[in-house]
Amino acid sequence: MSKLFSPVSLRGLTLRNRTVVAPMCQYSAQDGFANDWHFVHLGRFALGGFGLVMLEATGVVPEGRISYADLGLWKDEQIAPLARIVDFLHGQGAAAGIQLAHAGRKASTPLPWRNGFDETEAEKTALHFESWTPVAPSAEIHAENKNFTTPTALDKAGIRNVIDAFVAAAIRAEKAGFDTIEIHAAHGYLLNQFLSPLANKRTDDYGGSRENRMRLVLEVTEAVRAVWPAHKPLLVRLSASDWHPEGWQIEDSVVLARELKARGVDAIDTSSGGFEGAAIPLGAGYQVPFAEAIREGADIPTMAVGLLGDAAEAEAIIESGRADFIALARGALDDPNWPVHARHELGVTDYDLWPKQTNRVRERDRSLGLRAFTR
Ligand SMILES: Cc1cc2nc3c(=O)[nH]c(=O)nc-3n(C[C@H](O)[C@H](O)[C@H](O)COP(=O)(O)O)c2cc1C
Repeated sequence: MSKLFSPVSLRGLTLRNRTVVAPMCQYSAQDGFANDWHFVHLGRFALGGFGLVMLEATGVVPEGRISYADLGLWKDEQIAPLARIVDFLHGQGAAAGIQLAHAGRKASTPLPWRNGFDETEAEKTALHFESWTPVAPSAEIHAENKNFTTPTALDKAGIRNVIDAFVAAAIRAEKAGFDTIEIHAAHGYLLNQFLSPLANKRTDDYGGSRENRMRLVLEVTEAVRAVWPAHKPLLVRLSASDWHPEGWQIEDSVVLARELKARGVDAIDTSSGGFEGAAIPLGAGYQVPFAEAIREGADIPTMAVGLLGDAAEAEAIIESGRADFIALARGALDDPNWPVHARHELGVTDYDLWPKQTNRVRERDRSLGLRAFTR
């Protein structure tokens, strides 16, 4: 009996299994609107058996997008195409989540497959190109290269606007039918910029001490939790460590996770990194120790992510209580059917997770004698 493939509940939401598609920017939206690319890209993960499909970093304000082609949820018109995706995911047995985000000083960056802002005038019109001056805790550029712009520092009114924008987007996410929200506080984006001494040089009550640096993410969380239905779980993605000697450390994350839990957060999606100068020891499951440390230290469910994909290893992480969910990003792009395959690898012989339209895969596998068929 696989624990990875057993159902699990967070508040009123029951997931069919503990596999999750991690949020992945597609740089394929126009004016923040989801389109057929997002529908197909996300839909295939539901067909492939994932328990929860998390939509990409979705800007709560236009200037909070990483690029002009990110999804957005800053106006009501953006709800309908997202609702269509949510309905499809639900129809295929997957839960739907959306990552609400503000990129801060890492906003207005070029699309990753382009060479800077090299769009022609015709492309700019066709792609709904936009560029702008980002905002941040402090007027310090993320890195001196062609991808980044020196931001302006948010004043108190600007900070209030950020909180209000997260709230308004959360209300729209509810209208779109999402089962869960993930607040993006990782990867060196705005909320992470406030947390980290590498980016936060403020001298007011949003900077300086750890308590002050945590203030914005806690205020956003409280405000979102207040409007997000009580039966729906709320997640937060953290960069558990900046991997930098002068940055945010795992011990800070444990303290923050306790505070988030006290404010009604149901699980921590445990990532890391996002600032320049980090020394990251990449390797299979390299962030799992963080998921484990937060789970133990703050007594809160965690999601492990990062170079995972070996079925037995994923099962062992869940079985041994190092994390509660396994999230895949690139592994899901590589094999959108990862759950149905991993489940077989773990010895499950039925085909119940496959959509009925794919019944003939079972027939093929039986002909090939691939596994014991009990029925
Ligand atoms: C194409 C792509 C887009 C991503 N976009 C986001 C995003 O929108 N929000 C986020 O928190 N992380 C994003 N990430 C990071 C992933 O969610 C994930 O944490 C990371 O890729 C490590 O998992 P993996 O080894 O399974 O790919 C992205 C990763 C990829 C590959």
